[in-house]
Amino acid sequence: MGISNVTTDSVRERVDIEEVVNDYVQLKRKGQNLWACCPFHQEKSPSFSVSPAKQIYKCFGCGKAGDPIQFIMDIEGVGFTEAIRHLAQKYGIDIIEDEHQASPEAVQAYNEKESLYIALSFARDEFVRNLQSPEGKSIGLSYFKERGFTPAVIEKFDLGYSMDAWDTLLEKAKTGGFSEEALQKAGLILEREQQSGKFYDRFRGRVMFTIHNLGGKPIAFGARTLKKDKNQPKYINSPETAVYHKSDVLYGIYQAKQAIRQQENCYLVEGYTDVISMHLAGIENVVASSGTSLTENQIKLIKRFSDQVTVLYDGDAAGIKASLRGIDMLLEGGLNVKAVVFPDGEDPDSYAQKVGADAFQLYLKEKAQDFISFKIGIVKQEGQFDPISKAAAVRQVVQSISKIPDPILRTLYIKESSRLLEIEEELILAELNKIFLKDANRPRPQEKEPPSGTSFPEDLLPTAETTPSKTIGQQLLRQERETMRLLINYGFEKVSEELRVCDYLIEETNELKFETPVFIRIFTAYKSALLEGILPDADYFIKTSDPEIKQEVIHMITQKYELSALWEKRHQIFTIMEADDLAKTVYFGILRLKKGVVKKMIQELMGKMREASEKDITDLQGVYMELKKYQVEIDKQLGTVISN
Ligand code: UTP
Ligand code: MN
Repeated sequence: MGISNVTTDSVRERVDIEEVVNDYVQLKRKGQNLWACCPFHQEKSPSFSVSPAKQIYKCFGCGKAGDPIQFIMDIEGVGFTEAIRHLAQKYGIDIIEDEHQASPEAVQAYNEKESLYIALSFARDEFVRNLQSPEGKSIGLSYFKERGFTPAVIEKFDLGYSMDAWDTLLEKAKTGGFSEEALQKAGLILEREQQSGKFYDRFRGRVMFTIHNLGGKPIAFGARTLKKDKNQPKYINSPETAVYHKSDVLYGIYQAKQAIRQQENCYLVEGYTDVISMHLAGIENVVASSGTSLTENQIKLIKRFSDQVTVLYDGDAAGIKASLRGIDMLLEGGLNVKAVVFPDGEDPDSYAQKVGADAFQLYLKEKAQDFISFKIGIVKQEGQFDPISKAAAVRQVVQSISKIPDPILRTLYIKESSRLLEIEEELILAELNKIFLKDANRPRPQEKEPPSGTSFPEDLLPTAETTPSKTIGQQLLRQERETMRLLINYGFEKVSEELRVCDYLIEETNELKFETPVFIRIFTAYKSALLEGILPDADYFIKTSDPEIKQEVIHMITQKYELSALWEKRHQIFTIMEADDLAKTVYFGILRLKKGVVKKMIQELMGKMREASEKDITDLQGVYMELKKYQVEIDKQLGTVISN
């Protein structure tokens, strides 16, 4: 289903880039802009910027850029309509549906997911309500109370109970208008035999843990049996559905996200009960991978909120060994990793219950160790720290260090492990290089560095001249882009008493044709806006629905001014130069564009000449002479020597 323009407009009016982005990354103010590590690629130092003034975001590392709506599309991986819906919900804007917009397929997929969400919410409500029924009270609620769960935490986590019968939920849901198909697709009911058309409840006589998505919608359930029956699995979980992909979900993330951001740390535990017990102990920045081993997407999810993870381990050696792989994955994901081990036989849940909130918090603080001491500790535990186990420890530690994408951090950890293992840094480095060599085919973990202060990106320099290594096509692209940049940044400023930059550029490019489709579109839109009496500035283009235009324009207006704090000084000088002598800048800009166009024409002409017949060649030679003359003229004005 589409959304009416009224809704889209209200969202556009209401959204604030800072508020939107802040839901996903921690922004820190530096000068006029806000900065964070980019949520779209892995990096250690922030090159992702948000401009509250321009209402845009832009990453100088990976190039992603856009307005708040684009941000939601990128980060949630949804389309335009869904992004509007998301933002409307965030801001409490009424969504007015419009039947006449989306494609039938989009409508169907949307409706299908929507119907699952509705069915799952209905089921959640039922399970929660069941807890107040006589059966629910005596079995479910008393179990939760026994575990020390308070009414507040029961409510916060949507804990519930499924009745000990075959079809309580099914019947209720049917009465409520839900189809068996939807309930089955939501993973709530099962078919007795294939194709029998007879269904029964998946969850029966169990306490229910609701699994929420990031926005707080129920997407799945975990159900724990209270019976001693050994043939019954302790937990039954929802299957994979259109809205539940187990490997993308972390239990508790909805309840934890705010705290993770504030505490700048995320505790990672094993299961539902650990998460809830930690909330009871006053620790809210905690999520669980729910039984499965950690996945890349789960790590990315954590990384959206914090760079720091503290993994909490049960106090049994086997369990720890099995989950060491998780640490390397976290490191690979660019996270700082700490670990806490609980006393033998205790998990976070049992230990929190045992010692109480204060002692538990203190324990976490005191026992958290970085992954190096943690790994060394494990090897040490296994016996004397003899040369052989020491070598094993080195390998273990180096293995992890090799996963860290950030070279500076790697160096720090090499120093740290050298100290803890009492061996020279060089030896660790040698070991590390062995691993890198072994994986020579695999690209070394690397990240795009943010722009360093060594030089301006070429295409920003006012006197940027063509470099021989670039093809003529690339040069032309650059010059076209530069022309557009001048048009959009300075279009309404005057180059003389009566001439604006835009008039000058339009006039001068009259007989030229732009090659790059996106620039053709920008230029056409610019000219028609002028005809309509609109003065199209950057904002005008950022609001269009053409994503390519948006991207280009944001690139043009940000690149120059917002590279990084370090650059500010040099920029100012450059900006003043450019703006001060706008006439000159525009004049040379156009000349360079013409030079590019002519060069391309000459190149094409030479191609033609090679294949031309004797008869045509004289004509072509004439054209060639004309073009050459023109090129010489341009070069003279540019003050450069003729290149070829
Ligand atoms: P536990 O076995 O400790 O579950 O597993 P529990 O409910 O806390 O049981 P008791 O009272 O200590 O015996 C810890 C977590 O592992 C996951 C659940 O998330 C649980 O919270 N788990 C465990 C499963 O997903 N499936 C299982 O079969 C067992
Ligand atoms: Mn337990």
